[in-house]
Amino acid sequence: MARKKIVAGNWKMNTVPAEGVELAKNVVAGRSEVCECVNFIVCPPFTHLSQVVEAVKGSDIAVGAQDCATEAKGAYTGEIAASMIAALGCKYVILGHSERRQYYGETSETLNKKMAQAYANNLIPIYCVGENLEEREAGNHFAVCKAQIEEVVFNLTEEQFANLVIAYEPVWAIGTGKTATAEQAQEIHAYIREVLRSKFGAAAEECPILYGGSCKPSNAAEIFAKEDVDGGLIGGAALVAGDFLAIGKGF
Ligand code: 13P
Repeated sequence: MARKKIVAGNWKMNTVPAEGVELAKNVVAGRSEVCECVNFIVCPPFTHLSQVVEAVKGSDIAVGAQDCATEAKGAYTGEIAASMIAALGCKYVILGHSERRQYYGETSETLNKKMAQAYANNLIPIYCVGENLEEREAGNHFAVCKAQIEEVVFNLTEEQFANLVIAYEPVWAIGTGKTATAEQAQEIHAYIREVLRSKFGAAAEECPILYGGSCKPSNAAEIFAKEDVDGGLIGGAALVAGDFLAIGKGF
């Protein structure tokens, strides 16, 4: 069975609600130009998740959040529970993005709790891994990704693992214009799949592994052509509907 092809847009802290709704509507409007085989996901800020769910209604575009709380509910001022996200009609949640690890101190311990919350509410996590420049230059990128997988993904049940998307995002390629080469992406994606296989066996063949980091219409096709690259997690280029859709044409 062929793995799911996914193009997911991480809007990060961009767009006010009206802009987000317009962007979502433009993605819907152009969607028919791209192969139905591509699964598009948009991940707006929390404030307009509900309006974006409404804007994509009737299309096959799914909506995801960019994070969720470690706890189910209660006195956690400012946090957003996975149940709230699911109640809006979202299907996905990005967890462990490098910006959250780096700026908000997210650790494997935090992420294990967030993953549990996501699954308890039937959200599919898009779990991010990836090394920074220093780690890449020291040749530690394999070990870093392995640890990020082992410490979190290895705690999942087989059923949970069957509902997981992984995104490999080298920190040095995020928002820098510096993309990993298709060969670098393939090398580490194949390695990540091997690590997954060591724990989950043949189910690892079904797990979509997305590439993220300065992915754009001009480089998507080359990267997506690689055997173990099943799509992309797109930042900047996801803020322009035409570019986001054009990345989907990279398959
Ligand atoms: P850019 O596509 O802007 O480099 O961001 C990638 C990313 O972090 C997606 O989560």
